[in-house]
Amino acid sequence: MRMRSRRSCLAVPGSNTRFLEKAQGLPADEVFLDLEDSVAPQAKEQARANVVAALREGDWTGRTRVVRVNDLSTKWTYRDVIEVVEGAGDALDCLMLPKVEDAVQVAWLDLLLTQVEKANGLPVGGIGIEAQIESARGLVAIEAIAAASPRLETLVFGPADFMASINMRTLVVGRQPPGYTEGDAYHYVLMRILMAARAFGLQAIDGPYLQIKDLDGFALTAHRSAALGFDGKWVLHPTQIEAANEIFAPSQDDYDHAELILDAYRHATEVDLRGAVMLGEEMIDEASRKMALVVAAKGRAAGLTRTTSFQPPA
Ligand code: GLV
Ligand code: MG
Repeated sequence: MRMRSRRSCLAVPGSNTRFLEKAQGLPADEVFLDLEDSVAPQAKEQARANVVAALREGDWTGRTRVVRVNDLSTKWTYRDVIEVVEGAGDALDCLMLPKVEDAVQVAWLDLLLTQVEKANGLPVGGIGIEAQIESARGLVAIEAIAAASPRLETLVFGPADFMASINMRTLVVGRQPPGYTEGDAYHYVLMRILMAARAFGLQAIDGPYLQIKDLDGFALTAHRSAALGFDGKWVLHPTQIEAANEIFAPSQDDYDHAELILDAYRHATEVDLRGAVMLGEEMIDEASRKMALVVAAKGRAAGLTRTTSFQPPA
């Protein structure tokens, strides 16, 4: 399983060369260069060329490089894939397929990628897939979608299209619909995406928060999906990047604690030959180790370093 850090996934319209340039200086974990909904129909073809040039000539060191192609109900998808991968396949980590509603759509992209990789001397299977779930049909088919290709790396929630698909009564993406006073209207969708992702070893990514100036609103929705276990969230602005990088990384305390659990458990099982031991006042066992592994992996991916060390019991 490929585990890239994706705390912040920056959307960059492929038709805007100024943004394509500017994005290279921003500290997002992932950048996705968009050919879909942020690009006007008349600008689609020029956007392909811009995106290929930006991948080829830009400096994206340390970032996961993704291109979002158009969805399969349009006439653009196959040419998006062919032009982007032929032009810059060796400078690309994943393609994002929007509005996925059926496992067959992911299988189609997998087969096409294999063809283009073979024809261009690229390693077969090298380019991953991110699948956006943004309709009732996509959500209902999510388990089959999640199992559709070994190239899949993430399931991504698309709240704007999703809200339209189910007729949710609000136009403000990510905010609770007026009149819904109990709980969180997005909980079911987020949980369903998370379950499918975890069941098939994929990352779960939350979508955009469109009110750019409302950083508190962004933080609230980001904390909500981070608390459930989501790996990251889309960002549309530099201020959102900082917040997402912080919110989706474990805190220093949690990270230190996780590394301590791993050391203490290793010591207990390998030196003392016991399966459950005390770490301070806390009982830890194999299940604690599994939880600690997740937090430690996220912390290391986020560049945290330990501030405490393990002292074996005397
Ligand atoms: C993103 O694509 C969304 O529809 O929210
Ligand atoms: Mg969408």
